[in-house]
Amino acid sequence: MNAIEIIGLCKNFTGKRMTKIEALKGLNLEVARGEVFGFLGPNGAGKSTTIKLLMGLLKPTTGLSRIMGVESSQTLSRTNVGFLPENPAFYDYLSAEEYIKFVGSQFGMEANLLATRTEEVLKRMDLWEARKRHMRGYSKGMVQRVGLAQTLVHDPDVYVLDEPMSGLDPIGRALVKDIILDLKKQGKCVFFSTHITDDVEKVCDRVGVINNGQLLVVDSVTNILQRGIEGYSVLTISPEGVQEENYVGKDELQFFIQRSLQNNQSIEKIESRSKDMEAFFLEIVAR
Ligand SMILES: Nc1ncnc2c1ncn2[C@@H]1O[C@H](COP(=O)(O)OP(=O)(O)OP(=O)(O)O)[C@@H](O)[C@H]1O
Ligand SMILES: [Mg+2]
Repeated sequence: MNAIEIIGLCKNFTGKRMTKIEALKGLNLEVARGEVFGFLGPNGAGKSTTIKLLMGLLKPTTGLSRIMGVESSQTLSRTNVGFLPENPAFYDYLSAEEYIKFVGSQFGMEANLLATRTEEVLKRMDLWEARKRHMRGYSKGMVQRVGLAQTLVHDPDVYVLDEPMSGLDPIGRALVKDIILDLKKQGKCVFFSTHITDDVEKVCDRVGVINNGQLLVVDSVTNILQRGIEGYSVLTISPEGVQEENYVGKDELQFFIQRSLQNNQSIEKIESRSKDMEAFFLEIVAR
């Protein structure tokens, strides 16, 4: 069973003067258990709409989605999910500790376990010092950290995160990447949206690029980077010991190596030069 299934999902909104906004145009996607999937797309592409439909916060115009085999229209589909909404906002007069305990209790966690887990996740998100303060005094990044802490407290198997790195400083971003990698190690499924390609390259197994409500590409990060190879940097050493760095085109590597060996040059190092994820993303969206 897949952790997430999206089948022919369409969502129309009504804009000004009754104009139809087609936010999603027939999305199909499956994300396996244990997989980290990056949902990449520019502003207004349809990422948050997809996530809201997946979480049952919006009703699809047509199509459906499932989490762990249960349709998003049913409350049961959300019991095994940690969900981080876009721009999370919490009760001003609760502290982070009170809020995390509230979330855990809503998931039916037993008091002792809840206390232990609350401490763990607050420490992990670097909120331990601030845990007793009212959240109205928290910075934007601290609120985002509370948002992430509340997805972790009940230790679900599926994580649906709408721009988890948003509003965080470089230390916070690195922490979130670390947490996602940890979840992967534990065999959890993480589905997260972003428009920052670097986030995707480091942590994802697969990436889907969405633009104008349509999925343009779904592929593994390895494949994307492999496909993006444009050439090689080859370091050769002549019999006299002179080092030379050569740029060799994608289709010329074999020929270059043969010729170098014929000329008694030894090959010291070959490094591929590939287009990065950013270039891939820009190219796909522009197309
Ligand atoms: N409630 C709504 N009413 C009308 N239009 C909406 C509504 N919600 C979203 N849209 C439109 O649907 C499209 C997709 O929006 P969505 O929020 O899913 O984009 P996104 O990919 O999450 O963008 P961002 O990176 O800016 O968060 C946009 O054109 C947006 O204007
Ligand atoms: Mg969004």
